[in-house]
Amino acid sequence: MKHETIEKNVGLLGVLIAIVISFGGLVEIIPLTLSRETTQPAPGIAPYPALQLEGRDIYLREGCYNCHSQMIRPLRGETERYGHYSLAGESVYDHPFQFGSKRTGPDLARVGGKYTDEWQRLHLVDPRDLVPESNMPGFPWLQTAKVDAGLTPAKMRALRKVGVPYTDAQIASASSEVQGKTEMEALIAYLQGLGTASQGWR
Ligand code: HEC
Repeated sequence: MKHETIEKNVGLLGVLIAIVISFGGLVEIIPLTLSRETTQPAPGIAPYPALQLEGRDIYLREGCYNCHSQMIRPLRGETERYGHYSLAGESVYDHPFQFGSKRTGPDLARVGGKYTDEWQRLHLVDPRDLVPESNMPGFPWLQTAKVDAGLTPAKMRALRKVGVPYTDAQIASASSEVQGKTEMEALIAYLQGLGTASQGWR
């Protein structure tokens, strides 16, 4: 009889469905926020050095994530191609993380060290110089644009508020580390660091 009341009252049915679904969601989400494996840094993972941090912001600004994921799934075809599958503990200092799912180009989670700095530079200026069939756009202006060194310490302080353990010394030296660097240098430093911390355990 009670069941019939629910089935005949679409508002009540909707509310009860929402409760059931939320409960299912919480059962999946809450353990993840408590588990060490997903909340603590994986071995070797440290906050981005100043130049890489600036490079990461350029990666976001230019929308590289629209074509590149940074999340290697635990599937044979992926690990054969890209290396060890990604761990949650590798992204604890990424705000926001760059997992993504759109792969017009290859996954970049472990691209650090795969090519030389010079390859990366030429490829970013005009991808077709190195990969004739590429449909990746060129980003030549990064070679002349300079990193705004005045903003780096503020970015680090903001990240510290959300749990990235930057030290006072790192924040104090940040501006001088990126002073005069081009956006290209910063972006390449970021790319060359991707996945390298995991080289010890994978
Ligand atoms: C429109 C889609 C698109 C955008 C946007 C894009 N890429 Fe690509 N990217 C590709 C494609 C396709 C390839 C594979 C062909 C090639 O190597 O050029 C690629 C390849 C790469 C590679 C080589 C990866 C490897 O393992 O060989 C790197 C590094 C890279 N992109 C970095 C970037 C960065 C950094 C940005 C942002 C500044 C960016 N891409 C933006 C599509 C894109």
